[in-house]
Amino acid sequence: VAIIVAAAVVFTFAGRPVDLSPNMINVEGADIGGPFELTAQTGERITSEELIDGPTLIYFGYTFCPDVCPIDVQKMAQATDLLAEDGIALTPVFVTVDPERDTPAELAEWAAAVHPDLVALTGSTEDIRAAADAYKVYYQKVDSEGSAADYLMNHTSYFYLVTPGDGLVAMFRHDITPEGLASDIERVLAAL
Ligand code: NI
Repeated sequence: VAIIVAAAVVFTFAGRPVDLSPNMINVEGADIGGPFELTAQTGERITSEELIDGPTLIYFGYTFCPDVCPIDVQKMAQATDLLAEDGIALTPVFVTVDPERDTPAELAEWAAAVHPDLVALTGSTEDIRAAADAYKVYYQKVDSEGSAADYLMNHTSYFYLVTPGDGLVAMFRHDITPEGLASDIERVLAAL
């Protein structure tokens, strides 16, 4: 598990400073992100290179999540709409850490209810492990006695902003508000 300490208040892209908001994590010099190949909710295979053709916000979670993920994906959806109002096309991407239950068919129905632009990705357990490793995402299956679900997934919850040219450019804690997420994304993109 990568522990990233937000020590600096400002980080830079090509010498241009960007203020860190309280829910932004300093990613300067962090080795986070990288290529992956997964299966979209359409059933089609897609590479990260094909997917990331503009500003893209990636979140790892699972659709059976009883608490945090549903709120976080709504934040992504709202931030996408807020940015669209300012003429910025953000692609929201959800990667499941529970490929056993999150099949393409399951994700298709779920994603359509979240946002029309949401790309929901699944794959083999190896595919998911590789993508999660690239983003330093921790996840683990845990038994849930007394719950309706057979099991839950413990997982880290961050939003990753990536662009085709720069890779990972920002990382946000999931407690951020949709408005904060949108304005931080706009600020970071303007500094690139
Ligand atoms: Ni969750």
